[in-house]
Amino acid sequence: MTPAHQEDIDAHTGTATTGHEWDGIRELNTPLPKWWLYILYGTIVWAIGYIVVYPAIPLVSSFTPGLSGWSSRAAVTQDLADLTQQRAPMVDALAKASLQEIGKDDRLRGFALAQGRAAFGDNCAPCHGAGGGGAVSFPNLNDDDWLWGGKVDDIHQTIAYGVRSAHEKTRSSAMPAFGQTGILKPAEVDQVADHVRSLSGLPTDKTYDKAAGAKIFEENCSACHGAGGKGNLEFGAPDLTDQIWLFGSSKASIAEGVHRGRGSMMPAWSGRLDDTTIKALAVYVHALGGGK
Ligand code: HEC
Ligand code: HEC
Repeated sequence: MTPAHQEDIDAHTGTATTGHEWDGIRELNTPLPKWWLYILYGTIVWAIGYIVVYPAIPLVSSFTPGLSGWSSRAAVTQDLADLTQQRAPMVDALAKASLQEIGKDDRLRGFALAQGRAAFGDNCAPCHGAGGGGAVSFPNLNDDDWLWGGKVDDIHQTIAYGVRSAHEKTRSSAMPAFGQTGILKPAEVDQVADHVRSLSGLPTDKTYDKAAGAKIFEENCSACHGAGGKGNLEFGAPDLTDQIWLFGSSKASIAEGVHRGRGSMMPAWSGRLDDTTIKALAVYVHALGGGK
């Protein structure tokens, strides 16, 4: 480094040496580039400044708070407050608009869809699936097959008050337990189960007697499911001819339903979610693909 050593040039590399020598091996003087060093010093200064100003060093049960008093929690609270304020006009507009008005206003509808999607993921997906695809006993919400109606008002009512829920305005009819209560004998349950399969073109057992099956259906089932088994939204009675099954198409599963009855529960959301969120959910579910 000193001028004296700079004179001492290594013959092979043409680089100055530091003057250090071990057993005849001399050390070349190749210092770190200046730009690199200055960046290093800069980061050290920056780090010290950071430690002084911001929370940094962990202590036993807390941390050094830093002079600025900044905390990530306070920052998030502030961000959320800002966001709420920023959204307030839209939330307000959504709260005031009717479902029909929301449907006609693109901006409002877009906002409702975003709110609805988020609320659906939080509250509905555990039962209805992430995309509303449903599962056994939990209806698919993105096909156009509806138990209780696919108009946005119908959907809103189902969400707000539920099905067979604890709410006083709940949708409530259920499929009676024909076998358990002795209304139908096991042989009749068997016949009508085959008849139900025949309604959607599924194969029936050899023991199936069309006339007998149709008669049992006519007398016991058509009041809710309709004469041809086409279903009835008023009773939440599924269409039995459409090959879309809530509980499964096997004869065993149909016979089990006729024997034990069916009546799955959809919770009421009124009171648990605010009215605006329920509106947004109705708009979202309606838009999933099957809305009418
Ligand atoms: C605990 C499970 C559960 C949760 C959570 C749930 N649902 Fe349901 N949902 C059901 C069941 C079961 C039915 C079918 C009721 C029936 O058999 O009539 C249903 C029915 C529906 C229907 C009527 C479908 C039709 O064909 O008419 C809509 C719409 C619906 N749910 C929307 C929602 C929304 C939106 C949420 C979230 C806010 C939600 N559900 C949360 C279980 C659930
Ligand atoms: C009081 C009205 C009512 C009557 C009467 C009734 N059902 Fe139902 N049925 C329903 C309802 C409501 C459901 C849907 C239950 C649910 O969603 O949990 C249903 C569901 C079913 C299902 C399941 C469909 C699927 O998609 O998985 C079958 C099958 C069925 N009923 C057959 C019958 C047969 C056969 C009879 C006559 C022996 C009958 N029902 C009589 C109301 C009725």
